[in-house]
Amino acid sequence: MDVSERLERTLSVALSRSDDPGCPPTLRTALVYAVYPAGHRIRPKLSLAVSQACGFENPKISLSAAASIELLHCASLVHDDLPAFDNADIRRGKPTLHKAFGEQVALLAGDALIVMAFETLALGSASDPSILSKLVQIVAASVGAPRGIVAGQAWESEQRINLANYHQEKTGALFAAATMAGAASCNYDPEEWRHLGITVGESYQIADDIRDVCASSEEIGKPTGQDEANNRPNIAREMGVDQAVQLLKRMISEAIENIPKCPLRGKLQEQIAAEGQQFLPESMRDVA
Ligand code: IPE
Ligand code: IPE
Ligand code: MG
Ligand code: MG
Repeated sequence: MDVSERLERTLSVALSRSDDPGCPPTLRTALVYAVYPAGHRIRPKLSLAVSQACGFENPKISLSAAASIELLHCASLVHDDLPAFDNADIRRGKPTLHKAFGEQVALLAGDALIVMAFETLALGSASDPSILSKLVQIVAASVGAPRGIVAGQAWESEQRINLANYHQEKTGALFAAATMAGAASCNYDPEEWRHLGITVGESYQIADDIRDVCASSEEIGKPTGQDEANNRPNIAREMGVDQAVQLLKRMISEAIENIPKCPLRGKLQEQIAAEGQQFLPESMRDVA
């Protein structure tokens, strides 16, 4: 089984814990709906790529960290699509969770996925309490306040958005958790891996901004033109698409050059370069 299959397996085992006759059936269905079909799975893939580059000596721990990060990401999307935030109708090419199941279930499914993420981490990392403690701190810091996804989303309720903080907290923080957790699960110093995550996360946010401006909704499976409609900052609108594409390419190169020392550094460089190529939708890769 390759590592992507092992990730999917870890996610499916996590979800199967809610497959209990005591669980309200709509909630159970909604939890599965939030995780499948898979999106890009970019954050857990990055985390596992770092773990593999660092020796992958604790695969179960690395996989549980990667799966917990993806569950948190899925939860953040469910909440982000709610009318209180972006009021989106489609996600991953199908109706958003609140459109399919109602707002109450969407709120609760997001909550349950957040709890499931930490449960998955605890169960998967129980063999090494010292690594577990580090992973909980890394992952929790990336999704809460003052510097995680909650904080990032909360900037939208302020009169003035601090742009750098907004992007770093909303997107960069979970990417940083991905690289840091990947390294920490192999007993590498997580701090050395923060910068890589932040840089890849920023690049991904630029790509998302470009997609929002240029791609079709059918192509990316979610509404486009949202940043303009909601009057939100968008790098491609601000600097122009071509400039944004160039910036994206420079940032990926910078990320690759600055990968910390590890046994399979060259392979990780290749993986990030290849993944970076996929950031833009197919119709746009010629621009790049
Ligand atoms: C969307 O993330 C939200 C951003 C922070 C850009 P993804 O593009 O990773 O969403 P999925 O998981 O593939 O649907
Ligand atoms: C969603 O951000 C990412 C979260 C942190 C919840 P956006 O609202 O910018 O992303 P999309 O366009 O809905 O995926
Ligand atoms: Mg949003
Ligand atoms: Mg949104």
